[in-house]
Amino acid sequence: MKRIYFDHSATTPVDPEVAKLMMEYMLDKFGNPSSIHAYGREARKAVEEAREKVAALIGANANEIFFTSGGTESDNLAIKGVAYANRKKGNHIITSAIEHHAVLHTCEYLEKQGYVVTYLPVDEYGMVRVEDLKKAITDKTILISIMFANNEVGTIQPIKEIGQIAREKGIYFHTDAVQAAGNYPIDVKEYNIDLLTLSGHKFHGPKGIGALYIRRGVRIEAIQHGGGHERNMRAGTENVPGIVGLGKAAEIAKNEMAQKMAHIQRLRDKLIRETMAKIPHVKLNGHPTQRMPGNANFSFHYVEGESLLLNLDLKGIAASSGSACTSGSLDPSHVLLAMGLSHEVAHGSLRISLGRGNTEEEVDYFLTVMPEIIERLRSMSPLYGKQPAAMSSNPCSHCHHH
Ligand SMILES: Cc1ncc(COP(=O)(O)O)c(C=O)c1O
Repeated sequence: MKRIYFDHSATTPVDPEVAKLMMEYMLDKFGNPSSIHAYGREARKAVEEAREKVAALIGANANEIFFTSGGTESDNLAIKGVAYANRKKGNHIITSAIEHHAVLHTCEYLEKQGYVVTYLPVDEYGMVRVEDLKKAITDKTILISIMFANNEVGTIQPIKEIGQIAREKGIYFHTDAVQAAGNYPIDVKEYNIDLLTLSGHKFHGPKGIGALYIRRGVRIEAIQHGGGHERNMRAGTENVPGIVGLGKAAEIAKNEMAQKMAHIQRLRDKLIRETMAKIPHVKLNGHPTQRMPGNANFSFHYVEGESLLLNLDLKGIAASSGSACTSGSLDPSHVLLAMGLSHEVAHGSLRISLGRGNTEEEVDYFLTVMPEIIERLRSMSPLYGKQPAAMSSNPCSHCHHH
């Protein structure tokens, strides 16, 4: 059976050119960038060239790019690093309720250390209201951390406005751009971004490598100590193959950005349009226009997200549930709940995230199998046909805390 990959927000395949280059830096050019000899110099040169390429992807200077082990580490470094270095100035951090757990759990950890965190709500489309942000700012606010694009519903936040407010107030602005970087145009200078998180495996680079952009002049402390690597910001021998791969992936992403976005968005728009037309009782989650080109997130009423995923998998289609059920927890997605969905509706969600390799035939195949699957699952639901189309907001039976 042909397999179809519709889960690019989870991860992407490594570009063959990226893999090829990485092999070179594992097998032949394996030196330690800190070494004085030719092997070391060769590795150092490659690391610095990669830094230039990552910087170019987001409009930064190379000396503002720090390599890390990925999005999670960059989020930790940005938030803890700024919090610790600016503790005398204030202890208040503003973030949103729909951040990735790499941000949310880091903020919760800081709360235990005496920091105060405001978790901004979002509207029904998953967007932060700039007015709420303005109201939340106090003279103790040291950091605003708002994601660029949401990983579940794809909503793109008003980053430029947030950046402007932060800059005017003299508050640092960090954005988790793991979903956007390499998939959507970003210019850190134009948007007044002080710190930006990106991760290689979301744009055809390898896993376990990422970067934190730190604008020159930002007060930040390292959180990992050891040798003086990454100009004392991140100790540990550089992951040279990963860094080289990240650089190559950034270069490719920049070159193919416009074309990739247009291709993916065309397929995504068809997928959304026809899914909504063919299947009754379905809701599109996320913003109608301000969303990542590859993201489609639906709630199918009277359907359980996990059963849907398993049925799609049986048809060879890899997608993701809108809820966190797959990760072993039975709680529905914090993102969908923050957007005001009931537990039941949140449980029946599906995230499709398209990538550059997807084709119209694949979308057509999805559109052929989906109505059958949904119809079958609904025919087994005791609720289907017995309730009005607008579902009750009764707490659902499978969440632990009810
Ligand atoms: C928005 C967002 N932030 C952070 C991360 C974590 O990135 P990494 O997997 O590189 O640690 C992800 C990955 O799923 C993400 O989507």
